[in-house]
Amino acid sequence: MYTAEMRELIKKVEATRPSRMGHDFPRLSPEAKLEILKSNHPDYVESGFRPLNLGVNSGDRVPLELADLIEAKSRVELDKVDLNRVDYDVDVLIIGAGGAGAAAALEAHNTGAKVMIATKLRFGDANTMMAEGGIQAADKPDDSPARHYLDVLGGGHFTNIPELAKALVHDAPGAIQWLNELGVMFDKEEDGTMHTQHGGGTSRKRMHAAADYSGAEIMRVLRDEVRNKGVEVIEFSPAVELIKDTEGKVAGAVLYNLETKEYSVAKAKTVILATGGAGRLHYHGFPTSNHYGATADGLVLGYRVGAELAFADTIQYHPTGVAFPSQIFGALVTEKVRGLGATPLNIDGEQFVYHLETRDIEASAIINECNVKGKGIATPTGEVGVWLDTPLIDMIHGEGTLEKRLPAMFRMFEKFGIDMRKEPILIYPTLHYQNGGLLINDKGETKIENLFVAGECAGGIHGRNRLMGNSLLDIIVFGRRAGKNAGAKSKEVEVKDLTLNHIAEYHESLKANGVETDRVSPMLLPRYRHGADKQN
Ligand code: FUM
Repeated sequence: MYTAEMRELIKKVEATRPSRMGHDFPRLSPEAKLEILKSNHPDYVESGFRPLNLGVNSGDRVPLELADLIEAKSRVELDKVDLNRVDYDVDVLIIGAGGAGAAAALEAHNTGAKVMIATKLRFGDANTMMAEGGIQAADKPDDSPARHYLDVLGGGHFTNIPELAKALVHDAPGAIQWLNELGVMFDKEEDGTMHTQHGGGTSRKRMHAAADYSGAEIMRVLRDEVRNKGVEVIEFSPAVELIKDTEGKVAGAVLYNLETKEYSVAKAKTVILATGGAGRLHYHGFPTSNHYGATADGLVLGYRVGAELAFADTIQYHPTGVAFPSQIFGALVTEKVRGLGATPLNIDGEQFVYHLETRDIEASAIINECNVKGKGIATPTGEVGVWLDTPLIDMIHGEGTLEKRLPAMFRMFEKFGIDMRKEPILIYPTLHYQNGGLLINDKGETKIENLFVAGECAGGIHGRNRLMGNSLLDIIVFGRRAGKNAGAKSKEVEVKDLTLNHIAEYHESLKANGVETDRVSPMLLPRYRHGADKQN
């Protein structure tokens, strides 16, 4: 698959390989890290951001594409929604059916609550399903939640909300046990203990995995369990607006059937937003590793009822997205590849950064090498990338390791005639994760009564940068917490008359703050048609 020119360049990688074996590249000093971040990371490129004009975060900077969705009108045709005709009446309504939504549903169900999930696409169409490398938990004798906590805070540049980071690491060993008992087939050693390895920024090997399809395996089990428990799941029915009651408390959602184009009213005592991320907004023009429905819907719905955003200006660009071949441009190359020893190299076959720096630093170093130093490798379609020297994996750990630990990666490249056991692959950062989201406390509650948030839609846990494996962990920990607490809370709630008055108020606020627009949101699905803007 590689062109003749690329094959010539690969010879330089092969030439430097023996000298790199067994020698760790020096890590950057704290000052050098800050410098490389500020000069290269897209979070520091001011032209990609603007302050919000209205709402609880008025004045705060957010990515342009998100600001436009927040400063938009409701897509609901109010004359077609009859709040007196309730289609679904439940205790806990969960919006979103990825890992966080499923974990929340199981715990809410355990409280005896009547639970329903409504989701935009199918059950499991979510970033969870696409998560590859693993899930962190400090459950080995040489490790502890306290150590995990320090790594989480270090990775987040000490900006994380401490109570959320504490909850994350505290519940982690129990989360692994829960998943294991439900039937997740984690990689195990011959003696039955969990196989664990390093990720960027981890001081101990605490990454638990199911090869390189960890998220799909977790989703498989959670989805089965939700179905086994008889929880109702409404597919192809995104929430397009939250409903409040006359006391201003969240009391359900308007759902929109993507097939029949009809609205329905779901009344609920508590609501959990678990709509996931925003990769399909393609901030700064980046490709994304995210699934098709990742369009920040939950942030828009939550903000419109007054929930606060936290860290909405910080986005994770995974250092290793596919740069070549173009058919899989932007797809994820799991960090596990670097965890197993593969190193990034420039056009001269030289390593330029330690291979397990935290993601924001590693991505910045790659961007710097390509765009500032001009030492990237050009692809035939005009993209640029650096090598990731994957043959090192079998050289370090023994023949067969790459295929055993990275079967999905191996097959993905093999389809295009690239044998990553024998030749390096070409990578460049890809938009992977929204570090921020709607502000929650350690129960998963927002400051808006009866509104909970879990998963990638929530903000504050990871501060300004998340470590690998803490997202699969966060969807389980905070999904379960939100489910338990929303289930318990629903027992105390008495819903008053339903209203959508907050929509008219939001439209008034747009006008009062000088926002004249015909945009509508949430976006629901991205548009890739030439000449179309990215909205439906
Ligand atoms: O690289 C990865 O496998 C991604 C993991 C994550 O985002 O936690």
